[in-house]
Amino acid sequence: SAAAATPAPKVNPNAPTEETVLSVEHYTDRLFRFRITRPRSFRFRTGEFVMIGLPKEDGKPLLRAYSIASPAWDEELEFYSIKVPDGPLTSRLQSIQPGDKVLLGKKPTGTLVLDALTPGKRLYMFSTGTGFAPFASLIRDPETYERYDEVIVTHTCRDNGELAYSTNLVRDIANDPLVGEISNGKLKLFTSCTRTPHPTMGRITTLIETGKLFEALGVPKLDPATDRAMICGSMEMIQDVKALMIANGLTEGSNSAPAEFVIEKAFAG
Ligand code: A2P
Repeated sequence: SAAAATPAPKVNPNAPTEETVLSVEHYTDRLFRFRITRPRSFRFRTGEFVMIGLPKEDGKPLLRAYSIASPAWDEELEFYSIKVPDGPLTSRLQSIQPGDKVLLGKKPTGTLVLDALTPGKRLYMFSTGTGFAPFASLIRDPETYERYDEVIVTHTCRDNGELAYSTNLVRDIANDPLVGEISNGKLKLFTSCTRTPHPTMGRITTLIETGKLFEALGVPKLDPATDRAMICGSMEMIQDVKALMIANGLTEGSNSAPAEFVIEKAFAG
């Protein structure tokens, strides 16, 4: 019949879904966070990233990879973003308001997940700038504390104002009904700045090399027998911290071959 000959409309099963912005918080002229609705079918592992974006003028999606900053149990999805004045996506994304729509990809993935590490006693999460985002997810997941005796997150930024997101989040975790108790005494945030005065100055690489990080935390130096690490920052930062991990005897892991540290580039643009 004529009806049977009409081709079914093409539906791309991998096309992003349209989600609603629930809240937006600006920290500095360079950084903000926002929360969006989470489709019931959207599953991910704490620490993973996903494509998000906005439609272009021609209606096609403009998408970038973003770490999901909320944990897997959360009913909403949170993202932490840089604002690049001439960035194709963030120049527009920075002006989103509650009620606006954003596009959410369907295939979260990534290596900053607990399953990519072999068991250990102490978990380090080394971050710079927006590289803190996947760790915002992991430190809100009870499983992180079930697997490790000690969880040390480091966040280094150019200036103090850029530490607001991590500092507020870790402060609030103490009173969180789900992870407040389990993280108590285990979670430590170590912050440093490189361009404005701060109690601890300097790049994380320097602080590892000089041993100042371990002194400040009151922990022994890196040991592959006990310590695991996740690294997230700029390409250069990842390479430099990775070299230090290797120099200290740690081996890089992945989803298919878990080992002692894992890396991922912080997304921006
Ligand atoms: P610096 O101020 O010395 O460049 P950005 O905002 O540019 O991504 O930088 C975030 C933080 O990461 C800054 O404090 C910066 O220090 C630091 N950083 C940049 N490159 C490296 C690197 N290769 N290793 C360690 N830290 C780095």
